Amino acid sequence: MRMGILTGGGDCPGLNAVIRAVVRHGMKEHNSEVVGFLEGWRGPLQNMVMPLTLKSTDGLIQRGGTILRTSRIDPFDLDRGPDLIVESMKKNNLNGLIVVGGRETCSIALRMFKEHKLNVVCIPKTIDNDLSATDFTFGFDTAVNIVSEALDRLHTTAESHNRVLVCEVMGRHAGWLACYGGIAGGADFILVPEKAIALHDITEAIKKRHARGKDHSIIVVAEGARLEGDNASDNNVEGNHKLGGIGDRLAKLIETETGFETRAIVLGHIQRGGSPTAYDRVLATRFGVAAVDLVTEKKFGRMVALQNNRIVDVPLEEATGSMKTLDMELYKVASVFFG
Ligand code: F6P
Repeated sequence: MRMGILTGGGDCPGLNAVIRAVVRHGMKEHNSEVVGFLEGWRGPLQNMVMPLTLKSTDGLIQRGGTILRTSRIDPFDLDRGPDLIVESMKKNNLNGLIVVGGRETCSIALRMFKEHKLNVVCIPKTIDNDLSATDFTFGFDTAVNIVSEALDRLHTTAESHNRVLVCEVMGRHAGWLACYGGIAGGADFILVPEKAIALHDITEAIKKRHARGKDHSIIVVAEGARLEGDNASDNNVEGNHKLGGIGDRLAKLIETETGFETRAIVLGHIQRGGSPTAYDRVLATRFGVAAVDLVTEKKFGRMVALQNNRIVDVPLEEATGSMKTLDMELYKVASVFFG
């Protein structure tokens, strides 16, 4: 048995832990050979492969990023793209391909499975946690910890200067990271893409806080969040266009409206970099082992998932059909601390 693996879409902590688990389990348990395709779907498109061995994947569990590198390339945008992938699978004599990705990468895998009979198994990763059919994607917990630690640091400087600090975090369509990170970091208001908020509600909450003696406030805003009735904050949130800007804009509006000195901070790619948390290392490892088992059982067109703390597998349609947006019950919990 020979299997391939690729990592696609935005990188996230835990990708190397998955690669390590796939190689270790594939080789030791199933006597399988594993090859890595480089740079997401570009790898099979251009037949860029890298043999993976126990030695080359040793010591990877704590390493951020992906040794296979990644890209957002979509083979369906290219002439003969899908055919080139099928050819590359044949050339490398592969029985199956493990695709580690978020919604876009897994949607491509589904099309390749359905339209080109590619033997794929997916593993869900993304700091956005917006893939359906899994309670969590790996990478998310690390990003939440980074946001929470950043907010701890912002608290002390905000407090020292009597400032309002607006912290913009990633999340184009889903507010999981903003909400989890905001709750953990003690945010005084959180804005998420799922719910447009009136500027007045935010400034009132800040004023209320200040009126009861708190001279600083921390606001967390997801990059895809919008202000109610404010067209300028209706960012182009389609596809993978660059977002950003809402934090800065919101900070200016808050300062004008409240008179409190306000600054904006964009956490950006820091949220995706560095070592995975222990939780993400374990989840990535569990996913990697389960994906190898699916390939050897020839259960293709499926994604491994975490449900009620058990690893299961689900049809790719279920995972990619609709986006998993924020559970608004969680937002309600967060809002207990607004104002
Ligand atoms: O999909 C993960 C993610 O980090 C999003 O949260 C963010 O909006 C996007 O990727 C940024 O992508 P890029 O690094 O390509 O600009």
